[in-house]
Amino acid sequence: MRTQFLSTGMYVPERTVANDDLRDVMDTSDEWIRTRTGIRERRWAEPGVMGSDLALEATKIALDRAGLAARDLDAIIYATVSPDYFFPGGGVYLQTKLGIDTIPCLDIRNQCTGFIYGLSIADAWIRCGMYRRVLLVGSELQSAGINMSPQGRDMGVLFADGAGVAILGPADDDGRGVLSTHIYADGAHAGMLFCDLGGCAHSPRLTHELLDQGLQWPTMQGREVFKHASTRMPEAVMTALKHNDLTPDQIKVLIPHQANLRISEMVQKQLGLRDDQVYNNIQKYGNTTAASIPIALHEAVLEGRIQRGDLVLFAAFGAGLTWGSAAVRW
Ligand SMILES: CC(C)(COP(=O)(O)OP(=O)(O)OC[C@H]1O[C@@H](n2cnc3c(N)ncnc32)[C@H](O)[C@@H]1OP(=O)(O)O)[C@@H](O)C(=O)NCCC(=O)NCCS
Repeated sequence: MRTQFLSTGMYVPERTVANDDLRDVMDTSDEWIRTRTGIRERRWAEPGVMGSDLALEATKIALDRAGLAARDLDAIIYATVSPDYFFPGGGVYLQTKLGIDTIPCLDIRNQCTGFIYGLSIADAWIRCGMYRRVLLVGSELQSAGINMSPQGRDMGVLFADGAGVAILGPADDDGRGVLSTHIYADGAHAGMLFCDLGGCAHSPRLTHELLDQGLQWPTMQGREVFKHASTRMPEAVMTALKHNDLTPDQIKVLIPHQANLRISEMVQKQLGLRDDQVYNNIQKYGNTTAASIPIALHEAVLEGRIQRGDLVLFAAFGAGLTWGSAAVRW
């Protein structure tokens, strides 16, 4: 038995933040951001909005498109790096906002690779017959964790808010569905992109001194991350293709995690893909971490870029380091 995508949904906050809006706050420029990252604008939520609120709106769309009600869901897998609270995870808040109860809510923390890790779990659950309707969520409220000053500009201009979801279920026996998932991690490079404060590395977890040192802000070795991302993503796509006896020319659409347009272009080049084979929307939304692939997937579907029977590839890379790919016969 295979797993298939029953529907998708996405939601981004209404507030659009253009590169020029960040110029004075972060001592940056539209030109720097566009040429280094491809980003023109992003969405940031108003204060008080939570990641589970964005996930709720995206889920309503996916349920509607699948002709399902929230009570039809058997499980929620919730991927985020920006949960509403330190604990519990975001899945239970989404469950309550959906007006349902008792179904399992599994939160996973695999950063920008969260959607692919989540897909591998949902796929296993569905294939073994454990659950029939799995809601897979990638939702992020990154704006609450951005250092809005020139010291935070390297990351601040990249990250953004949004949610993308998919509802997954057993496939008909027609060859369509999830063909494979491949997930990887290398903890030796965890320090390359991480946030020091908030966990138990410090005891007590939070002090004025730690805050004065700025340890609540994420840090990133941008160039190193860039190199790893542009190597690992094509590698994972090639693994998926080989595993399924497929070749790059058979890909209808590759949806790479929207980390940086230059990274997507390097992935495209290394795989020898044409422009029409790669879907990017980072220009409008920035890097929405675990939400970037399902948001791009939903838009690609709405635009008619993905049709029944098409071969769709996902590639992700993120903090951890983590990375992975998935191949889907749509
Ligand atoms: C972040 C990134 C765009 C920076 O691009 P880069 O070409 O590597 O730039 P550098 O880090 O070498 O910085 C170059 C200069 O720009 C400056 N700079 C950094 N951010 C800036 C910004 N937002 N605006 C203006 N200048 C900025 C730096 O301070 C540095 O100045 P200096 O030369 O005077 O020291 C790039 O490294 C990148 O995209 N990395 C991957 C990030 C990513 O995808 N992370 C998520 C993975 S899921």
